[in-house]
Amino acid sequence: MRLTIFGSGYVGLVQGACMAEMGNHVVCYDIDEDKIARLNAGEIPIYEPGLEAYVERNVEAGRLEFTTDVKKAVSHGLFQFIAVGTPPDEDGSADLKHVLAVAKAIGENMDEYRIVVDKSTVPVGTADKVKAEIDRVLAERGKSVEFDVVSNPEFLKEGAAISDFMKPDRIIVGTDNPRTTELLRSLYEPFNRSHDRLISMDIRSAELTKYAANAMLATKISFMNELANMAEKFGADIEHVRIGIGSDPRIGYHFIYPGAGYGGSCFPKDVQALAKSASESGYDAALLNAVEEVNHRQKRRLFEKLSDHYDGNLKGKTIALWGLSFKPNTDDMRAAPSRVLMESLWDAGATVRAYDPEAMEEAARIYPDQEGLTFCEKSYEALAGADALVIVTEWQEFRSPDFQTIKEMVADAVVVDGRNLFDPEMVEAFGLEYYAIGRGRGTNAPRPNFGRRKTDKA
Ligand SMILES: NC(=O)c1ccc[n+]([C@@H]2O[C@H](COP(=O)([O-])OP(=O)(O)OC[C@H]3O[C@@H](n4cnc5c(N)ncnc54)[C@H](O)[C@@H]3O)[C@@H](O)[C@H]2O)c1
Repeated sequence: MRLTIFGSGYVGLVQGACMAEMGNHVVCYDIDEDKIARLNAGEIPIYEPGLEAYVERNVEAGRLEFTTDVKKAVSHGLFQFIAVGTPPDEDGSADLKHVLAVAKAIGENMDEYRIVVDKSTVPVGTADKVKAEIDRVLAERGKSVEFDVVSNPEFLKEGAAISDFMKPDRIIVGTDNPRTTELLRSLYEPFNRSHDRLISMDIRSAELTKYAANAMLATKISFMNELANMAEKFGADIEHVRIGIGSDPRIGYHFIYPGAGYGGSCFPKDVQALAKSASESGYDAALLNAVEEVNHRQKRRLFEKLSDHYDGNLKGKTIALWGLSFKPNTDDMRAAPSRVLMESLWDAGATVRAYDPEAMEEAARIYPDQEGLTFCEKSYEALAGADALVIVTEWQEFRSPDFQTIKEMVADAVVVDGRNLFDPEMVEAFGLEYYAIGRGRGTNAPRPNFGRRKTDKA
């Protein structure tokens, strides 16, 4: 089949490569000329495991093309996928300007039947706006061309995007026309072989399903972070609590890890956008607002732990940071907790020595010539001259560090672990002062007289 994808970012590029891998002929269009030039030169502008090989193979086979020629893009595909960004507007609502710009471009260049498929995460009612925009432009051109608008939200996770796309848990298709459902069913057939994963529904429900999924996942994270903060006050260990509650199949072990708050391009903006849509419709989304508020506070926790350790005086301190991306296996730093931490440290007069396996280029782009920020080629290089170490992202290579070297290199022998990677007693056995998330002891919360662990002194 022939398809066009507008937007060659984390979603559009992965989708393009995976669709081409199945034998389709894909044209990826982006307004970012530099990005398209890099792609045409064989360079992958983002880090996503496995993506490079997919792109290379399919470009070579002539099934995957990149262009900035909008006419070519619209005339190529029966399916016109919209995979452009939907960043938050100033008031938290989703900014639809990119989505509507694509609708306009399709309307301006469309001469035969097209299925316009919205893959971007968009508020309920967006398909109607896309349709209205195309209708408006067609009317302006004095043309009457048939088209359908479909909602087909994307559920891939950065870091595992290829396997998520190739083996999706579900394929949501929202249409008001059974014929388009069948056409999308044929397009997705190769991804759907072991059992039927395609769930068809009306357009509005499909649009809401995407927000509902992200809001539920964000809620789980904020719930655990809230519990973790309580555990610190109570002298309990959230890691025991996590295992204790996860054993209930109604709760499960997935996605109940406490940490430094959720980031990335999806949860923060989607929770806010859904709450905003709710309030515009006259509904106060109290739970969603609380989820976001708890997350906001959680992103400050690592800084607070450091600040408490140094009695509020971080001026002149050098802090080593392991991990900049919002999660492992991506270079994405959108809304990353590391940003809140670094910016707070700079405000407090501290300097940062940072290491990340993939995100340093992105960090340098976000913070060009930033005073108080040094990038280090290796994780242990970041410890040179550091007073404390903070682990912000749980990359595999941080899971089993050499604590003896950390003890020798980090001047104040302080480790703040934003991902609860280690056994506190084991870390402390090396003479390190260890702060984690929600782990009763080893935190700077007041310690009650109950629930002490056996190594607790005094
Ligand atoms: N990143 C994820 O993990 C993920 C997962 C599921 C859904 N989504 C959703 O998918 C959408 C895209 O997200 P992303 O992370 O791929 O964004 P991204 O920022 O990585 O990529 C968006 C791309 O769209 C391009 N673009 C902007 N305006 C354009 C236009 N008029 N025509 C063509 N291209 C244009 C930009 O140049 C950019 O390359 C968002 O709505 C997001 O919420 C993202």
